[in-house]
Amino acid sequence: MQKKREHWNSKIGFILAASGSAIGLGNIWKFPYIAGENGGAAFIIIYLVCIAIIGLPVLIGEVLLGRTTQRNPVGAFKKLSNSKFWAVIGSLGVIAGFIILSFYGVVAGWSFGYIFEAINGSFYDFNQIESASNHFTQLTSNVTWIVGFLALFIGITMFIVYAGVQKGIERASKIMMPLLLVILIALMIKGLSLQGAEKGLAFLLEPNWGNVTGETILLALGHAFFTLSLGMGAMMTYGSYMTEKDSIPASALQIVFLDTIIALIAGIAIFTAVFATGQDPSGGPGLIFHTLPIVFTKMTGGYIFSILFFLLLSIAALTSAISLLEVVIAYFVDEKDWKRHKAVITFGIITFLVGVPSALSFNVMSDMTIFGLNFFDLADYLASNILLPVGGLFISIFIAWVWGFDKVLIELKKGSEKLFDNSPWVINYWKVFIKYFAPVLIFLVLLSKLGLLEIILNFF
Ligand code: PHE
Repeated sequence: MQKKREHWNSKIGFILAASGSAIGLGNIWKFPYIAGENGGAAFIIIYLVCIAIIGLPVLIGEVLLGRTTQRNPVGAFKKLSNSKFWAVIGSLGVIAGFIILSFYGVVAGWSFGYIFEAINGSFYDFNQIESASNHFTQLTSNVTWIVGFLALFIGITMFIVYAGVQKGIERASKIMMPLLLVILIALMIKGLSLQGAEKGLAFLLEPNWGNVTGETILLALGHAFFTLSLGMGAMMTYGSYMTEKDSIPASALQIVFLDTIIALIAGIAIFTAVFATGQDPSGGPGLIFHTLPIVFTKMTGGYIFSILFFLLLSIAALTSAISLLEVVIAYFVDEKDWKRHKAVITFGIITFLVGVPSALSFNVMSDMTIFGLNFFDLADYLASNILLPVGGLFISIFIAWVWGFDKVLIELKKGSEKLFDNSPWVINYWKVFIKYFAPVLIFLVLLSKLGLLEIILNFF
């Protein structure tokens, strides 16, 4: 007997949940520091182009696969193709869900921990960047602190997913996403009001093309993928809770718009403050945990703003983590007939256990490396640089070349009849990008990530 599938209660419910998945540590932690390290505006322009020509088309495709099949990533491919190969591609997504959640949970745990640091006023003991980074090192070397906050973070994620699609994920997104937007706008206004903010804005708005290399382009492309939660079936799974009433291209455009605007606002909030207080914009991954605490001590109202900032970062991480866990849960519920509650408890605990070695990479296991990477970096590398691009590559190949494009268009038209009639060029644009641009460009990123592109280019 077919079980009745849960669906989003409203169109806005889907958009908020999917934007919640997209908007995460990628937007507020990763994007500002990669932009900071790669020359600011020039990087941002390239990133925006990547979002438009790859991110948006692949997002439409992933959601479409989910909605058409009403299945998790493995079930979706199985339903449309008899070949085992595609089921394996789907299962890579489920595996990527575990792996990303394990290192993502560690950074999200720091963010939770930093809410308490901010409340305790710990940042006021810092006078220079060294004391802030020492404090960070001290906290992350404490096994109880780091594993404890990882457990708390995974626990809250499980709690939301346990409650189901409408009562858990949709409800949580409807509360957390507006809150996130309000906090972020408050932080941006604060940043812009600081004396010297214009230097931060100039950094974000005036492109310095001299810094751009091939590597920058590939970095921007990879990040476009990560930030839109593409390549591992998170958007497919959320799409599988959609009905045929709603337009996929219109929803995808709104999600991409929200994700991009939030990364930009986060960039403005952070760099205006960093420049106004005379800090270094190229702080790398430590920008948020080393540089920002100093920035807060140097501004009026810094105490409140520091709490708000880490609250914002934690909310963003949480709405992404629920989508990661949901991929795993949907697989066991659809394919293995598990009850949601049992799946959440079992795989929540397993994800926590997989996360522990990532957390311990900052202390007792820091010397243990595989291929020269500690566990945390290995999980990040494997997921972001291999599994997501491979997943994205095959998802676009499947949609464009395997499924049958006439069938694809019939499905896409459902809920978008007006768009098909009034602006057929939009559909043609999508067709070209999903068939040619996306697979070729993703393939190049993949080669470069594996270090093969350079070898091939040198050959010529
Ligand atoms: N998009 C999320 C972020 O930007 C990360 C993520 C990747 C979430 C893949 C789900 C799937 O932080």
